[in-house]
This record gives sequence, structure tokens and C-alpha cells, in this order.
Amino acid sequence: MTTPTLPATSHQPKAYSGPSADQVLALRKQFVNPGIFLYYKKPLMLVEGKMQYVWDDTGKRYLDGLGGIVTISVGHCHPHVVEAARKQNETLQHSTTIYLHPNLAEYAQKLASKMPGDLKVCYFVNSGSEANDLALLMARAYTGNYDVIALRNSYHGGNVAGMGLTAHSTWKFNVPHSFGAHHALAPDPYRGPYGRNDAEAGKKYAADVKQLIDFASPGQVAGFIAESIQGVGGVIVFPDGYLKHVYEHVRAAGGVCIADEVQAGFGRTGTHFWGFETQGVIPDIVTMAKGIGNGCPLAAVVTTPQIAAVLSKKIHFNTFGGNPVVCAMGKAVLEVIEREKLQENSLKLGQRVLTGLEKLKAKYEIIGDVRGKGLMLGIELVKDRATKEPAKAECAQVIENCREMGLLLGKGGLSGSVIRFAPPMCITQADADFMLEVFDAAFRQLEGEKPPKARPALAISS
Ligand SMILES: Cc1ncc(COP(=O)(O)O)c(C=O)c1O
Repeated sequence: MTTPTLPATSHQPKAYSGPSADQVLALRKQFVNPGIFLYYKKPLMLVEGKMQYVWDDTGKRYLDGLGGIVTISVGHCHPHVVEAARKQNETLQHSTTIYLHPNLAEYAQKLASKMPGDLKVCYFVNSGSEANDLALLMARAYTGNYDVIALRNSYHGGNVAGMGLTAHSTWKFNVPHSFGAHHALAPDPYRGPYGRNDAEAGKKYAADVKQLIDFASPGQVAGFIAESIQGVGGVIVFPDGYLKHVYEHVRAAGGVCIADEVQAGFGRTGTHFWGFETQGVIPDIVTMAKGIGNGCPLAAVVTTPQIAAVLSKKIHFNTFGGNPVVCAMGKAVLEVIEREKLQENSLKLGQRVLTGLEKLKAKYEIIGDVRGKGLMLGIELVKDRATKEPAKAECAQVIENCREMGLLLGKGGLSGSVIRFAPPMCITQADADFMLEVFDAAFRQLEGEKPPKARPALAISS
């Protein structure tokens, strides 16, 4: 067996001359909060990126299968995004919303043009957590209700509001954060009580939301929030019809429906621009971050004029939200997605990878499930297909093996037993095939075969 070879690239990385990874690690250990965790047994230091590839301090190249952390939507240092940032950086780096600036207004218009229905009013913030906090505030101010329904297995951020909505014990600290938040059954077709063959599964999972409204709230709720595909929770794709039924229950109880598109938005699902569209619904509020800015601190809450108006009841302000540089970058991201047909690419290559993963599932017993949409894919590892006992250590090992072969991946699920693949949407067919080859080799290695022999690299730098 030989090592899969990364597809060639014409990009020549600069020689790295900064501090070594060991030196940086020592600095982090001394000066950076230990809660900020690192991936990999031997931490990786990335010093350059170009489109779907990144380079470490030794010059080794990787396919970025996690796209930063689902943040690099159109490609690392995409020239159009870099140029938009450069131009604005050289003109006016910062101006707050107390003054007019064309970038914020024009970007809002462009983003609104991508939204269905009455979702036409934007509020820009800096992170997904902030966006969800603001969406919750709007829902409560608009409805006059307090209780909110979220889903188990969700992740909505690390601030108090986000932590309250999140439902993984691993992400929740012992501080008051979940007052008024109720968590419904995760509509997980692999692990939940209603499986993929149950045509009524969507309706049945949605009934649990109704149960929470009836038994855990005053009968009236501020809203419901869900990721359109659960990302951190291990790429959980809801059964068809789920959101449609939930939205009916929630609206009947006076609530608004919030879609967290932080990971699934911007064409990543392939078939649609927004993840919620795969469920045939239109939310009342949509939150977005990560891929919206291709890695820059940009996030947004988009809603209807009626709901947006509630913020005028008091003073509300965000110092950096809508900064002219990030708005220029956000607009450039939308232009690249359109021009380079990245949604279509997500669909085509996502299907190719998923088909390949199905074949690997047939080959390796440890793969319990493969799933996802477009370029948001998950591979769940289990010790036993009957008990579905999570294969946490094995998952970590496969990810280590892949790293050695030049493929970076993410982890998800409560037990960390789901491998996540969410690369920049500009990957090529050769990258998709490389990913599958590496996977195959990584699982063979896990089964005890020796690591593959290195083959002389064909690429300019690997
Ligand atoms: C679905 C979802 N919502 C919200 C967040 C929080 O975003 P941020 O880390 O930008 O605050 C994340 C981050 O991973 C996320 O995946």
C-alpha cells in the first residue's frame, strides 16, 4: 500500500521562518487559557493557506477537510475576498454604525437578496454565539414570551445564551444559563427512537416539541431554535417534514422559528443555499456566522421588518458589528459563491464523497453510519453495529492517521465518535477522491495494517 498523494497545486508557500511549533506550544501553555483546546496528539501549527489547502510550519501540505472550522467557505485567502479586505483596509478600517457607510447597507441588501419570504432585515454582529443571543432577544421582545425550545444534541455557542440553548453536557458549565430553555428530542434518524425507514419520523419527533410546549412551558413560547443540520452534534440530518411540523406547533403557541445556519448555510448543503430550505420551511429569524465571512469575524441575524422593529424599543448597539472591512469581505464571499458556482460544486462533490463513504461503510464494520448533505458530511464510528456503542478512541485514531496522510478532519457528537468533513466548497474531484483514498488507508491502518509507505510526492509541495 502506498500513501495517497495530494492533488497537485501551483501555489508555492513562503518559507516559514517564525517560531517553531514547540515554542508556540510553550507560549500557549504559559499565556493562553488552557480551556482553549488543541486537536491532535502532536499539535499542528498552520502557517499558510491557499484555497482548499493549508501548510504547516515544516512545509507539509494538507487538504483542509474541516474548512478551518466550517468557516472557510470559498477557500483560504481567496483572491477576491483578500482584495476586498485590502481595498477597505487601506481606506477606512473602522467606522461604527452611528455613521453611514455604503458597505454595511450594500452588503445587507445583497444578503437579503439571498433570503426567501420577508426575511429582509439584517443586523450584523461578530460571532455565531452573539447572533443567537440577539435572535433570542428579538424572539422574546417580539412575542412577549420567555420560554424557548431548542434541541438535544444542539450547539449554539459558548456565551450564556448559546450555552443555554446548547444541549451537550460537555459544553455546559455549572452557571445559570438555561432558564426558560427546554430541549426536545434530537430528531436523529440513526440513534433516535424513529429510524430512517419510518415515513412518519418527522411528525413523531415534532410531537415532542408540542409535548414540551404543553408540559414544560406556560403554553406560550417565545420561539424555537434549531441548526438546520446539527454540526457539532455529529452532522445530524433531520427526517423530512420535521421542521414543517415543529414550526406549526411553535407558531400555534405564539412563538417564532429561528434557524441557526451558522454551519449549514451559504450553499454548503448543495441542493439549497440555506439548510432550512431542505426542509421546505421559511423561518422567522435566521442566524449565520462562520462561512458567511470565509473566516473573518462576521455574523448576522436576518429577520422580517416586523420582528426587526422590536429592537427600536430600547437602545441596542454593537461596536464592531457591520465593520466596513468585514462587510466588504462578506459581500465578496457571496460574489464568489455565485461566480464560481460553489453551491453546485458542493452538491456534485458531496454526492461523490457520500457514495464513496457508503462503499467504505460496506467494507469496514466500525463505520456505523454515513450521512450529510453536500459538503457537510459525517461518519459515525461504533464498536458494534448492533449496540451502536460509540468508538471514541478509534475515531481519534482515524483522525490522527488521516492527518499523517495530509487530510485534516473534524470530530463531533457527544462522545467524539463522528468524523466531520466540511471542506472549503472549492474542492475538486481529485480532492474528493484523495479524501476517500486517505479514509480507506486510515481504516486499514486501524485494522492493524502497517502505515502506508511514503511515495515520492508528485505535488510541488506536500
Ligand atoms: C451551529 C452553530 N451555532 C453557533 C455557533 C457559535 O458560533 P461562534 O463560535 O462564532 O460564536 C457555532 C459554532 O461552532 C455553531 O456551530
